[in-house]
Amino acid sequence: MPNKKPLRRPGKQQSADISEAQIAVHWREEGYFSPSSKFIAQANLADKGIFKRFSLDKFPEYYREFADLLDWYKRWKKTLDTSNPPFWRWFVGGEINACYNCVDRHLARHKNKTAIHFVPEPEHEAVQHITYQELFVRVNEFAALLRDFCGLKAGDRVTLHMPMVAELPIAMLACARLGIIHSQVFSGFSGKACADRIVDSESRVLITMDAYYRAGTLLDHKEKAEIAVTEAAREGHKVDRVLIWQRYPGKYSSPTKLAEGRDVIVNDLLRKYRGKRVEPARMPAEAPLFLMYTSGTTGRPKGCQHSIGGYLAYVTWTSKYIQDIHPEDVYWCMADIGWITGHSYIVYGPLALAASSVVYEGVPTQPDAGRPWRIAEQLDVNIFHTSPTAIRALRRAGPDEPAKYHYHFKHMTTVGEPIEPEVWKWYHKMVGKSEAVIVDTWWQTENGGFLCSTVPGIHKMKPGSAGPGIPGIHPVIYDDQDKELPAGSGKAGNICIRNPWPGGFQTIWKDPDRFVRQYYSRYCKNPRSKNWRDWPYMAGDGAVQAADGYYRILGRIDDVINVAGHRLGTKEIESAALIIPEVAEAAVVPVADPIKGRVPDLYVSLKPGFTASKEIADRISGAVVSEIGPIARPRAVVIVPDMPKTRSGKIMRRVLAAISDHKDPGDVSTLANPEVVDKIKELVK
Ligand code: PRX
Repeated sequence: MPNKKPLRRPGKQQSADISEAQIAVHWREEGYFSPSSKFIAQANLADKGIFKRFSLDKFPEYYREFADLLDWYKRWKKTLDTSNPPFWRWFVGGEINACYNCVDRHLARHKNKTAIHFVPEPEHEAVQHITYQELFVRVNEFAALLRDFCGLKAGDRVTLHMPMVAELPIAMLACARLGIIHSQVFSGFSGKACADRIVDSESRVLITMDAYYRAGTLLDHKEKAEIAVTEAAREGHKVDRVLIWQRYPGKYSSPTKLAEGRDVIVNDLLRKYRGKRVEPARMPAEAPLFLMYTSGTTGRPKGCQHSIGGYLAYVTWTSKYIQDIHPEDVYWCMADIGWITGHSYIVYGPLALAASSVVYEGVPTQPDAGRPWRIAEQLDVNIFHTSPTAIRALRRAGPDEPAKYHYHFKHMTTVGEPIEPEVWKWYHKMVGKSEAVIVDTWWQTENGGFLCSTVPGIHKMKPGSAGPGIPGIHPVIYDDQDKELPAGSGKAGNICIRNPWPGGFQTIWKDPDRFVRQYYSRYCKNPRSKNWRDWPYMAGDGAVQAADGYYRILGRIDDVINVAGHRLGTKEIESAALIIPEVAEAAVVPVADPIKGRVPDLYVSLKPGFTASKEIADRISGAVVSEIGPIARPRAVVIVPDMPKTRSGKIMRRVLAAISDHKDPGDVSTLANPEVVDKIKELVK
């Protein structure tokens, strides 16, 4: 049954003057759910003493436990170097290879075990089960191609614009084997968005695929590569090679032509590299493993740079102890590898632990809402991981479907956005069959892995709350006056992390100043301090800590909209709208959506002499899709006679947000043009 209850229970007064944070603290506290004794008996972590071992007075040495889960060519000399805050360096002096840790080291004991189950979207197509041995062979061959055909070497950047197919982790691991920094762009992003990331990372090689399935259609993906390369050239950057995997090996499935001398069909070329082996590069622990672009408050997406040693240690530990992955588990994270969740918790974490990881090509409800549960039954998946948006969609499309299939999850994760208690309870009862533990994991692209979550074998669960900081993570909440709120105060504020951790990003690619400014400057009392205690990390989320120590995340405090668990910068969408010549001003606001959590509404005013029309609105919407991708498509484009503005000329986005959400915009008498508010309300009605 669809959830009819409001997501929040605000007081009577509901105006734009009440902050999101204040509204959310009116939620009532939920009761606890306990993990089963069966789960606890097999859990990787059930020792409550862990929090003592990971107390701040033992920082940073407790993180050795994380790195000890990996194989090192050379052990590190210093666990953490803090000499240049906030550019922390983890496991300094250590040498390691991420691909070796995810593939080679498992061959002795697990070579015949499935590493990747690739599930094509069309249900009649066979599932591909790729063993660790086969993964080893395919990664080596592709690494040989990257090295010998493309001339790539350690430190080079390569952009991947790949859909959810087994060739994506193969390409990532091949890069990692050579020490090449990969930058995977979400396949749903447009060619233009891909171009921006190619240019910023200065990639000379683009790896893509001819086509892939999405919602029942074989989409032409190669056309995006064409746009990406052309756009990059316009920005003064040349891509030398486009490597194209075939969705159906031996057959080119795209109507887009190949450019001679530049485009190469990987499947053909690979014949030359059959049986080739490439020694994994011995990389310094702090060398970058990948870039992952994410939206911020201003300007272009920023490339979050993640390290090899620290990142891999962090995702391996959290996969083992928070997701409870054992080598014999079949694990399915339904995220896309084009986001950080997929990097950490489809590829690197599970494979470092020799688990079997499912890669599903398409949308969960294709061809019907029973699909995920059929996949779970067929592959005997016992650990499941997804977002509240997917849970809400599956609950709406097929609330009773899970009961029809014989699968059993011992563990389930939710990630990416706050989950409403009602939705959580459906997930627990129906999807988890009241057997599975749930972890609600709060973290960000910048963080590499989980920050707040219950430890599934230790803590009780509380619907709607992420839980305490995971072992080793010490959060703190500051109020608007930058004062620390007492622990468990139940008051909303700005959540920060007191201590560095190995999974944290190293910098923003080519923009270290922005890295410091955006995440550290607000709460750093002394910018000259060399003491890590003076450099709390600011996440940019509002949060409350309840008396039991659990954090409830309230959402972004900046200009970022979380659409279906994915971050979009309002500025990015507004800049796309401004490409249309008639547009004078644009303002994006988040609107509550029953499935996606939030969606963008786009308000625009036109230059003098132009009249509003559906044609203009459609062109604006089209510009957003071609600049960013369908994920950013506005729910509505509202062409207004004028923007509501303060006397100093600032657009009052909160007034627009209230109108979009059909709420009272509050007192607007202080605006420079209060009369426009009613006109806009009329338009939105
Ligand atoms: O607002 C928080 C929300 O998603 C943001 C991070 O988005 P992104 O970098 O795309 O990473 C998503 C996957 C890690 C955060 O700033 N968020 C993430 N997890 C949760 C969440 N909000 C509430 N509860 C969560 N569990």
